[in-house]
Amino acid sequence: MDKFIIKGGKKLKGTVEISGSKNAALPILMATLLTDETCFLNRVPNLRDIRTTIKILEELGKKVIYDNGTVEVRSKRKLKTTVSYDLVKQMRASFWVAGPLLTRFKKASIPLPGGCAIGVRPVDIHLRGFEKMGAKVSTEKGNVVVKAKKLHPVKIILSFPSVGATLNLMMCASLIPGKTVLENVAREPEVGDVIKALQSMGANISLDEKGRIIIEGVSKLHGMNHTVIADRIETGTFVIAAAATRGEVEITECVPEHNEILLEYLLDAGFNIETTQDTIKITCRNKKIKPVNMKTAPFPGFATDLQAPWMSLMCLCSGSADISEDIFENRFMHAPELVRMGANILIDRNTAKITGVKSFSPAVVMASDLRGGMALVIAGLCAKGTSVVERVYHIDRGYEIIEEKLTELGANIKRHNPVLVGEEE
Ligand code: EPZ
Repeated sequence: MDKFIIKGGKKLKGTVEISGSKNAALPILMATLLTDETCFLNRVPNLRDIRTTIKILEELGKKVIYDNGTVEVRSKRKLKTTVSYDLVKQMRASFWVAGPLLTRFKKASIPLPGGCAIGVRPVDIHLRGFEKMGAKVSTEKGNVVVKAKKLHPVKIILSFPSVGATLNLMMCASLIPGKTVLENVAREPEVGDVIKALQSMGANISLDEKGRIIIEGVSKLHGMNHTVIADRIETGTFVIAAAATRGEVEITECVPEHNEILLEYLLDAGFNIETTQDTIKITCRNKKIKPVNMKTAPFPGFATDLQAPWMSLMCLCSGSADISEDIFENRFMHAPELVRMGANILIDRNTAKITGVKSFSPAVVMASDLRGGMALVIAGLCAKGTSVVERVYHIDRGYEIIEEKLTELGANIKRHNPVLVGEEE
């Protein structure tokens, strides 16, 4: 398994360009199942989760060509309505095949999804929505099976603004004749990008002034040529990494308004932030980092996906700061590893109570999930001396050429591949 060897203690300096959003590209790739026509997607990051999604599409019967950020999805044969457990277990987003397959073929059989081990992560909101649309849900041999004779339009109030359920139900409703109304939906920018992609396929779908998603189902969707939005989580991660190393970094090709709360909190913590329409520049105002309490919340609240990197920053604050994780129930697995690097963190249920320390100390640590892994990389960049972050495959799920981008900013980070150098694992 790959590891990162980081010689920390250097300020990040320079310019970094943001990749396309993983969490927008994944559902838009799934949306290609809604049509037999050819779809082109641009600015698709080259990530492990994207490669898994491509394998899922191929297993279902699509032909997919990935070339330098552009993906072409063509129809090859009649689509299958089931995906193998080996693929689904790698990524929770695989459950998004359910909506498109159910609406087109009136059935889908999908193993319960895996993904980052950050909580129980059920799919009950997706399934209740499908049932309201007329589907029967059962479990057969470990698979969730959704079947319908006919699907009908419906008004659904989601019990929680789940990103995944909003996307699945929206894709499903796009081919159900009549008017479906989804309330209490996720308002993450990735949902907006999927709406844009579906519109370009001919879907009649919009957000009304009350924040509801209104879908007038059409009988057929056609191909699309869509460019994926910038990754706001990668953007936020670089801003935080720059702050933690007291660096000076300009982040380009991003959408600052998608990270508004984070930028506000960084101002509160004592950093200078300058933005244009598509750049963010962060510089250090003071030597000290002011403590800022934070609670994660659905968009436009503070993103749960930036909670772990934010924790690394707050570990270096002068004073004490609380972080409350209100989206996932088990998303503090990076905390004990940060403690091994000298941080002072106490976990009380869903709150991390942090007392700032002057610096991190180098250590060998292990990534246990995608964003938690990046929190350890940030700590490694700050710690003077050599740190090792193991199980980098988690980080590879969501950060494109991360070590190259950090090296460009002056970091000393190397990937160590034991297979290539002939070491035993
Ligand atoms: C998406 O996951 C993202 N994944 C996650 O990013 C992100 O953390 C999350 O949204 C919240 O913003 C992708 O886009 C691929 P949810 P998703 O459904 O859709 C509970 C990353 O690091 N819930 O909004 O799975 C659930 O257990 C990843 O890139 C139910 O109870 O998130 C969780 O506590 C990790 N029942 C909360 O809602 C349901 O049916 C939010 O989940 C669905 C969700």
